Amino acid sequence: MSPRARTALIAGNWKMHTTQATARDLARAVADIAAAPGVADAVDVLVAPPFTALAAVADVARGTPVRVAAQDMHWADTGAFTGEVSPVMVAELATHVILGHSERRHGFGETDGDVNRKAHAALAHGLVPIVCVGETLAERDAGKTDAVVARQVDAALEGAAPDEAGRAVVAYEPVWAIGTGRACDPAEAGRVMRLIRQRVAAAFGAPAADAVRLVYGGSVTPDNAAAYFADPDIDGALVGGASLKADAFGAIIRAAAVAPGAPAPAGARKEQPT
Ligand code: 13P
Repeated sequence: MSPRARTALIAGNWKMHTTQATARDLARAVADIAAAPGVADAVDVLVAPPFTALAAVADVARGTPVRVAAQDMHWADTGAFTGEVSPVMVAELATHVILGHSERRHGFGETDGDVNRKAHAALAHGLVPIVCVGETLAERDAGKTDAVVARQVDAALEGAAPDEAGRAVVAYEPVWAIGTGRACDPAEAGRVMRLIRQRVAAAFGAPAADAVRLVYGGSVTPDNAAAYFADPDIDGALVGGASLKADAFGAIIRAAAVAPGAPAPAGARKEQPT
C-alpha cells in the first residue's frame, strides 16, 4: 500500500465547551496521545477550543505536536466590531481557523460571502482555513446535496490563488449528521469528497486538488472512524462530541495513524526501497 497522498488531519472542535482549566487538562491529554510513537509521524492533530481558552491551550500545545485552531473569526484586522475577534488576534495563538461551520451558517446567519471574506483573511494572515460545507436534511431529501456542496466550496475559495486553495482544508459535515449519532455512510462521504476534489481541480488545477485536505465531520466516534479513513479521499475528521473525551479522541487519532496507506512508522520506513 503506498503512503497516503496527504498526511491525515484529526481536528477536535470543542464548540462552546470547556473552561480554561478543563481545556488545559484536555489539551495536555491530547498532546500525550499526539506525541506517541506511530502517531506523531502519521497524523496532524488539531484542537479548536473556545476563544476564552485559546491562550491557555496555546500555552499547553507549545512544544508539542498539537496545533491550535479558532472556531471562527471576523475578516477585518481591527475595527468597531463589538464581540468579534480578528485574524491578527487569532494568528497570535492559532495556526488554523474553522470557518463556515453549519452552526454559524444556520444559527447565526453566516453567508457564503462571509465565509469567502474570512477565508481570504485567514490565508492573508498565514492561517489555514478549515472551510465547513454540507447540506441540510431537507436539501439531501430534495436531491440537492451535490449542488449545495459545490456552491459552498466554490464560494468559499473564490478568488484564492491555486497554492492558497491547496493549503486549505475542507470539512464535509452534513448538517443532519452533526451531533445526531446519525453518521454519514462512509461510501457516501467518500463520494462527496471526490466531488469536492473535482471542484477544486476545476477551479485551481490538479496540484491544488491533490494537496487540499478533505476531512469528514458528523457523529465520528472511535467505532466508525476507521471506515472513513480507509477511503483515500477522506484525509481525516473534524470531531465534535467525541473530541471532548481524551480517550475517545485518542482512539480516533490512532485509527487514522493505522489506516491503510498511512505512513509506516519511522523505523519501518527506512527499510523500504527508495
Ligand atoms: P459531532 O462530532 O458532535 O457530530 O460534531 C461534528 C462537528 O460539528 C464538528 O465540527
